[in-house]
Amino acid sequence: MTATEHRQTVNAARKRLHVITWGCQMNVYDSGRMADVLSPLGYAPAAEPDGADMVILNTCHIRDKAAEKVFSELGRLRRLKEAREATGKRMILAVAGCVAQAEGAEILARAPYVDIVLGPQTYHRLPEMVARAARAGGSVIETEFPPEDKFDHLPEASAPQGVTGFLTVQEGCDKFCSFCVVPYTRGAEQSRPAASVIAEARRLVAQGTREIMLLGQNVNAWHGQAPDGGTWGLGRLLQELAGIPGLLRLRYATSHPCDMDDELIDAHRDVPILMPYLHLPIQSGSDRILAAMNRRHRAADYLRVVDRLRAARPDLALSSDFIVGHPGETAADFEATMDLVRKVGFAQAFSFKYSPRPGTPAAGAPGQVADAEKDRRLQTLQALLREQQAAFGARCVGLTMPILFTGKGRHPGQIVGRSAFLQPVHVIGDSGLIGQEHMVLITAAHPNSLAGTLQQERLSA
Ligand code: 5AD
Ligand code: SF4
Repeated sequence: MTATEHRQTVNAARKRLHVITWGCQMNVYDSGRMADVLSPLGYAPAAEPDGADMVILNTCHIRDKAAEKVFSELGRLRRLKEAREATGKRMILAVAGCVAQAEGAEILARAPYVDIVLGPQTYHRLPEMVARAARAGGSVIETEFPPEDKFDHLPEASAPQGVTGFLTVQEGCDKFCSFCVVPYTRGAEQSRPAASVIAEARRLVAQGTREIMLLGQNVNAWHGQAPDGGTWGLGRLLQELAGIPGLLRLRYATSHPCDMDDELIDAHRDVPILMPYLHLPIQSGSDRILAAMNRRHRAADYLRVVDRLRAARPDLALSSDFIVGHPGETAADFEATMDLVRKVGFAQAFSFKYSPRPGTPAAGAPGQVADAEKDRRLQTLQALLREQQAAFGARCVGLTMPILFTGKGRHPGQIVGRSAFLQPVHVIGDSGLIGQEHMVLITAAHPNSLAGTLQQERLSA
């Protein structure tokens, strides 16, 4: 290394980057990738926004009062930015993610002290935006859907992710469910080529990751370019990834029932490291509401997919997403959702009150449901889902199951891992076991976790 290069490295290492992440696992992954693209510019992670040279607020628009939440956080960050500027230093403030995509112009109008607004498809252009913001002093906005593929332009090197690693294989969505902003904020469905996914998976495993969660807004619609130039589906990709030495577990989320093809269902039978747990949102159990939601399937289609999955992998546990109070939902429609939940039996599930998203078809639809009624339905549904989750946990007590240890527990001497069904499991054990899979006898079930005792047998290298 020459003296000049050395000096550059030393200077470069001085910048501090703080990233605030809200929302889904895709945003967690994106935040990591933004840190990766900024690392060659000398930005290293900082735990606090106070005193950082750059702060990125990675936002979520899916539910709740997304924009208000962003403006209130920006108000707080503005004070830190001004305090830093008072000492003659600069803090570059960037807003990323789906609120940036949907409301970029509004952000710059209401918060002109924001330096950069960037949508999820332009993260690879971040270094250039930072340079422009640093030079011009004005604000930079990039919320177009650029013609180039961001995955082709993101750096290969990435920071290690830990025992469980996220890997985005697919982005965007063409389904246009009536209630959902994703097709507008994340754009059209795009699949990353298989070779690029496999290379990133290998790197993660080489860095110590033992479990990979493939991510996509509509992950099972993945149809990526195969190494031989053809096209693979997700089932085939999972088969390939399963061959990576040292990889112990595979998962994928989030899936659409219409995209569960035969090959993918077969993968649940044929790929032992594909965990027997699937997040498969249905949103409603009423065919009328499923049609209004533009979900493109009926309740019976969902039940058929579940039957086929369970035939392929009898111990498969299911999770789902539900929305109560979609416009037009009657008491009878809601009952149909309760019936569907009873028929399937979920190990875990997420449920939400319908929240109108500006610009989506359902937001302006007639038959909006009163908030108090949404609350009532949500509580009724959540009581049933809690009951099913508790029953599932209780059925695990007395079983011996493989647990992949991911970190230290809250209490001294305790470590925590995940069951195949994604339940957190606490045991007393040496922290040297983190990153390994061991058999654990489950001794107790709590509402959101299990407790157990380590058995002798070690499963993984
Ligand atoms: N209101 C309520 N819930 C929503 N979701 C998506 N959009 C909305 C909305 N407008 C829920 C769906 C989806 C999950 C990620 O968030 O259940 O599957
Ligand atoms: Fe949104 Fe999922 Fe529907 Fe796509 S399939 S529009 S991401 S809810």
